[in-house]
Amino acid sequence: MAEQRILITGGAGFIGSRTVQQLMQHSCAAAPVAIWVLDNLHPQVHGAAATSPEFPKGVTFVKGDVCDRRLITELLATARPNVIIHMAAETGTGQSMDEIYRYCQINVMGTAVLLEAIAQVSAQIDGPVNGPVNEPNKLPLERFILMSSRAVYGEGAYWDTTHRQTVVPPPRSVEDLKAGRFDPIVPGARLRAVPTSETMPPAPSSIYASTKLMQEHLVQQAGAIAPWQATIFRFQNVYGPGQSLKNPYTGVLSIFSRQILAGKTLNIYEDGQIGRDFVFIEDVVNALVLACNANIPHGSIINIGSGKTTTILEAAKTLLRLYGKPTDAYQITGDFRAGDIRHAVADIQLAQQLLNWQPNVSVEDGLSKLAAWCEECVLT
Ligand SMILES: NC(=O)c1ccc[n+]([C@@H]2O[C@H](COP(=O)([O-])OP(=O)(O)OC[C@H]3O[C@@H](n4cnc5c(N)ncnc54)[C@H](O)[C@@H]3O)[C@@H](O)[C@H]2O)c1
Repeated sequence: MAEQRILITGGAGFIGSRTVQQLMQHSCAAAPVAIWVLDNLHPQVHGAAATSPEFPKGVTFVKGDVCDRRLITELLATARPNVIIHMAAETGTGQSMDEIYRYCQINVMGTAVLLEAIAQVSAQIDGPVNGPVNEPNKLPLERFILMSSRAVYGEGAYWDTTHRQTVVPPPRSVEDLKAGRFDPIVPGARLRAVPTSETMPPAPSSIYASTKLMQEHLVQQAGAIAPWQATIFRFQNVYGPGQSLKNPYTGVLSIFSRQILAGKTLNIYEDGQIGRDFVFIEDVVNALVLACNANIPHGSIINIGSGKTTTILEAAKTLLRLYGKPTDAYQITGDFRAGDIRHAVADIQLAQQLLNWQPNVSVEDGLSKLAAWCEECVLT
């Protein structure tokens, strides 16, 4: 079998580093894998003093920025990947509302740089990428896998029990949130949250979500005139061992863990009933590994989640119990974040159909693994 050559941008991060490990475990003489990781070791994620991470043999780490055109072009020409997994991104929903330029720069322009470099490297090797259709393209890229987010759905699907139809409510207004009206409002409708399928229209309610949707459009459109196939994953809230304990902007379960272990009282936003679909890191990595080898129709958009809702209050209480703390060491403050959504749960049938994938780790088991890992990190 020919060597699989995989470039992972953002591959030193939470999902990336686990994906690298899992892919390398699959590498063997019969099916060798070589991986290139591009990552700028963002200080917010890795700390200010981050050094190059250790990767297994067969992995080449390149420290650099996804917006660096020259570096990306050189890397593509050297690595000649047949799979690219694009993960490098700014990832904080709340932070994105204040740092609009930075989020657009990295998420949108970084993707643009990468896509244009793919076209340019292909053209250098083989003439214009959008030349005659049958012209062979010697950059062996077969698959481009984008890590998008369920954030693109905004509030996602609700069943309107009055009019008996599925609707996507508009983003919640700051006035409503200030007044404690936390549930989404559609005038004249009674709403019940239901799993969101990939067919629901996107309705981003944060800058982060808008940049993720723009990434999707760029990848779909660039891929439409190229010989590679795009797969777009919309992940729900990924959690588990390895998620940055330094980043104060992402990963509510890691943030809670850090606060619990520091003896702090948890601040539970809104009324505690924010619902999230927490999907365990191993399940996410399994989906990515399957996608590296799957023949999926170009442009497929696939939800990855647990398919179940857990409220933030339930998650907080479970973590408090797992850390052996009083389960009432929290305050429901009514605080809120502009751009946040109320309720998330994925319809995961398409992932089952296209990838034969399903989540295996329950939230209780996943939280136990997270808690054990966080305690170990604090002790060492
Ligand atoms: N974790 C989740 O719950 C979740 C949910 C939906 C989507 N996603 C997406 O999955 C991807 C990976 O997320 P993660 O949770 O592993 O985040 P992470 O922050 O742990 O990893 C992102 C990595 O990208 C790197 N990076 C950031 N900016 C960069 C730049 N300009 N150039 C090169 N590298 C850069 C960081 O150093 C980091 O190692 C992101 O695209 C994110 O939007 C994550």
